Amino acid sequence: MTAHFLAIETSCDETAASVFTDEPKILSNVIASQTELHQRFGGVVPEVAARAHLQRLLPVIDEALRKSGKRLEDMAAIAVHHTPGLVGALLIGVSAAKALAIALDVPLLAVNHIEAHIYAARVAAGRDIFPCVGLVVSGGHTALFHCKSSLQFELLGSTRDDAAGEAFDKVAQILQLGFPGGPAIDREAATGNPKAHRFPRTLFDRDNLDFSFSGLKTAVLYAVHGKDLSNPRPAPTGQERADFAASFQQAVVDVLVEKCRRALVTTGLKRLAVGGGVAANQSLRIAMTDLIGDRQGELFIPPMELCTDNAAMASLAVEKWRLSLFAPMDLDAEPNLAWS
Ligand code: KG4
Ligand code: ZN
Repeated sequence: MTAHFLAIETSCDETAASVFTDEPKILSNVIASQTELHQRFGGVVPEVAARAHLQRLLPVIDEALRKSGKRLEDMAAIAVHHTPGLVGALLIGVSAAKALAIALDVPLLAVNHIEAHIYAARVAAGRDIFPCVGLVVSGGHTALFHCKSSLQFELLGSTRDDAAGEAFDKVAQILQLGFPGGPAIDREAATGNPKAHRFPRTLFDRDNLDFSFSGLKTAVLYAVHGKDLSNPRPAPTGQERADFAASFQQAVVDVLVEKCRRALVTTGLKRLAVGGGVAANQSLRIAMTDLIGDRQGELFIPPMELCTDNAAMASLAVEKWRLSLFAPMDLDAEPNLAWS
């Protein structure tokens, strides 16, 4: 008999719920974006995000159930992303998931949001993708994993400063392209020349799998406004702006591709899964396709709606449910992530 699950995501600025089966097959994937609430602040305001989750979560859950054609009583368990993220935001989802699990008398499943970003590739593929190298590139995290199985992730490297998405958002601010920056730079770069400016690519030593994007961001800042920030040059427009966007984007893409190449060599693996908001980037998708093509491997990148934050990727919970790896009812929101 098919088991059904409800999952909740509230780690940052998307209020999301999804219903899926134990296959896992996604029956509904509802996302209420808060972008318009945070836009005028130029970034996500934690208090605003938490309050918006509180207002939107129950209607979002209702819609996810309605779209799936299932009722709450049909759920075999409730899943929730409990780490990492904004603590106030996470707490809304964790509290709701616990309340539902208790009321329905079903197990609670705790899912790591970062691992779920990689699992999104598994969901989209509809078949096993493990073992693989997993790259997560989001607004808060940039990390490479050796994914031995769906539940065994070994950290290979991560960012020492900014996340890739954070760099996109900051450079978009510098170029006055608005928030969120990633999609805006992606669009702007489409008509720009990626070779117009040569920005630094921080790669560290030959085998190193860590990332660093803050030097790149500063290089763009100086190139755009000049070194004297007390008397900045005005932000560029037109072709000049497109060239900056394309050159910055190319630098990020080059670093991400090179680190994935190294990770594939180090682990000897042929499969690469990429997840997180930045995986929606057109240039990155093309560059990763080329990398894997050259190596005769397999690339798994989910469609756009499964790259940015969503609750369907929490179907990683199914793997835990199979092994009865249930969360305790005193589960807490854990804003910071510690990898072993
Ligand atoms: O995974 P995500 O939705 O949320 C986090 O877990 O952080 O990632 C959001 C990040 C933002 O920094 C956003 O600017 C970036 O993903 N992003 C993109 C694109 N779409 C979203 N970056 C580059 N190109 C895109 N098309
Ligand atoms: Zn995310």
